[in-house]
Amino acid sequence: MQLKEIYSPIRNELTEIERLIRFNIENSPTASIVKIGGYLLRSGGKRLRPALVTLSARATLEGDVSASSKQVLNIASAVELIHLASLLHDDVIDHSKIRHNKPTVNAKWGEDVAIVLGDYLYSIGFDLISSCRNPDVLDCISRSTRMMCEGELTQVCERDNLDILKERYITIVKNKTANLFAACCQAGVLAVGRHTALGMLKEYGLNFGIAFQIVDDSLDLIGEIKDLGKVPGADFKMGELTMPILNLLSETEDKRLVRKLIAQKDSKRAFKDIRKMFINSGALTKTIDDVHLYAEKAKKSLRGLADSSFKHSLCALADFAVDRIKA
Ligand code: IPE
Ligand code: IPE
Ligand code: MG
Ligand code: MG
Repeated sequence: MQLKEIYSPIRNELTEIERLIRFNIENSPTASIVKIGGYLLRSGGKRLRPALVTLSARATLEGDVSASSKQVLNIASAVELIHLASLLHDDVIDHSKIRHNKPTVNAKWGEDVAIVLGDYLYSIGFDLISSCRNPDVLDCISRSTRMMCEGELTQVCERDNLDILKERYITIVKNKTANLFAACCQAGVLAVGRHTALGMLKEYGLNFGIAFQIVDDSLDLIGEIKDLGKVPGADFKMGELTMPILNLLSETEDKRLVRKLIAQKDSKRAFKDIRKMFINSGALTKTIDDVHLYAEKAKKSLRGLADSSFKHSLCALADFAVDRIKA
């Protein structure tokens, strides 16, 4: 299923969230923030995190209301601002030049601008969260943002570590990506006061987030620039040992060759060879199985929720993650 279809039960909310994000950026009296922030917004993105907030809120309300509250919309806008901030900083960390098929802010305006604009987006994101006057939501979003920073930093510190264990990789992925997914789901539930559904939605978000990041890491290896909107091979170049590479290391019959190729981080040839080995060994199949497992776990954790179009969309999002790697 395409995202547009998955998002259809919350189409109106997503339009309003987009407006709120734009309003919060354009509200700045600083012309450069309005200009570069506008560029960032026009570049697009899947808006997964606001969708998770809204879908979780509506799925737990079981059709009690016909639209999301202002609080839900503010939280959804805030988490996207926090995500955009993390990407601005991530592109500086990874020296990425292209995102969403456009030059990154660091490539176009410089790293200094990208860093400070990222700081600005974090601060307006948290401003919005605190305006909700819901301490549980503030706690949940700030905790996951702290973990995201811990995950990003650990990943940087673990670069070139060929002996990194899969468990360690999963911990990094939980921290840098999956916890924010889980927090988005939890915040949606907290905002509508249905605390009994918290555990289910947290479990869903965590497992969906892990599946999503493993797919992103796989697409960095096998995807094409035109489909990804970003340059593949970024993780290889930075010496990041991600799940697809760890699976290749465990599946290949020639570990020495794989290790030798991994060491040639700046070689396009070595990257092509690794890509080929990943596809032709059992490593791609193993990685698809891993993703499948996490996506199924995500869907299973929603079993206790009453059926609704919102629950259906949450399940479809988990399938969407799997389909991206299979395409
Ligand atoms: C990119 O996230 C960073 C990861 C966690 C892999 P998204 O794929 O959700 O970013 P958008 O859709 O470009 O905003
Ligand atoms: C970034 O992960 C996750 C963040 C927490 C920002 P990646 O480095 O894999 O994201 P992309 O591939 O650049 O989008
Ligand atoms: Mg990156
Ligand atoms: Mg990536």
